[in-house]
Amino acid sequence: MKREILEMLKKNKDNFISGEELSNRLGVTRTAIWKYINTLKQEGYEIESASRKGYKLIVEPDILSENELLIELEESKLANKIYYFKSIDSTNDFGKKLALDGAEEGTVIVSDEQTGGRGRLGRLWTSPHGSSISMSIILRPIIDPSDAAKITEIAAASVALGINKSTGLDVSIKWPNDIILNKKKVCGILTEMSAELNNINYVILGIGINVNIDEFPNDIIDKATSLKKEASKHISRKDIVINIIREFEKLYYDFLETGSLEKTVKICKEKSEILGNKIKVINKNQEIIAEAIDITDEGELLIRKEDGEIISIISGEISIRGIKGYI
Ligand code: BTN
Repeated sequence: MKREILEMLKKNKDNFISGEELSNRLGVTRTAIWKYINTLKQEGYEIESASRKGYKLIVEPDILSENELLIELEESKLANKIYYFKSIDSTNDFGKKLALDGAEEGTVIVSDEQTGGRGRLGRLWTSPHGSSISMSIILRPIIDPSDAAKITEIAAASVALGINKSTGLDVSIKWPNDIILNKKKVCGILTEMSAELNNINYVILGIGINVNIDEFPNDIIDKATSLKKEASKHISRKDIVINIIREFEKLYYDFLETGSLEKTVKICKEKSEILGNKIKVINKNQEIIAEAIDITDEGELLIRKEDGEIISIISGEISIRGIKGYI
């Protein structure tokens, strides 16, 4: 019911809608409407109430609540079920538990904060309260497990497009899973999977974005930034989440239906941070200096080693760095 009231207030934003109209349309008493309005106010919605006129939505908070996202993603094939937390250890860990309990494809978990966020290769991922996006999507693609890495690239392309659509910022992709703005990382993607030899049980696609973070610890200050720091303005997290899910849905189902990664690869190439550059490819303790020359139709990175040999690499356990620093 709260969602329906919110939806009507949003449709009438900046105009009054009477308690009577809300109560008639939604089939509940005016007292019940008043109670729901009060809970919305407690959540941070600024709603003006005036006798005889009713209620007017004035300011919406930048929260990632289930209601906010469901209203915008009603038409979406993904995000039919959304779990929202003010704080959680890790949205990926919660996603795994849900997936093991049978949660359906497209279930989304978002949190305003993570206390035990995880990055790739066992690293920690910091997601401060209210100023970052931490979200995970449960997927159950019917594809070969060896193709799962492609989901990371679909996500990277969607994040780049989603951020651009909602903020106008032109971010780039450091193949395969980092999103970069002005040579620093603003987003990381962690794709985890449970699979058997020939089929995937589930994939947890985790996306962490530094949105309105003002300060970074000294050890990462040279390589991490936030959208707010680069744009010099506060950024709405909700719009970004919605746009990423919409973009991801298009590319993901296109890939599942056609078996081709063409659309994703095109975006990953156009927005590549590394193509044409000298890079360091780090695989466990081994480092290769090479030039990043292309991304294949299958999403593999083609590199030319210093001895001239051209090889393709798949994401897996590798890290990419610039030859002088992070990029
Ligand atoms: C990386 O760059 O190393 C990947 C970072 C991924 C962080 C996200 S935040 C949401 C999800 N939950 C986690 O614990 N990690 C991912």
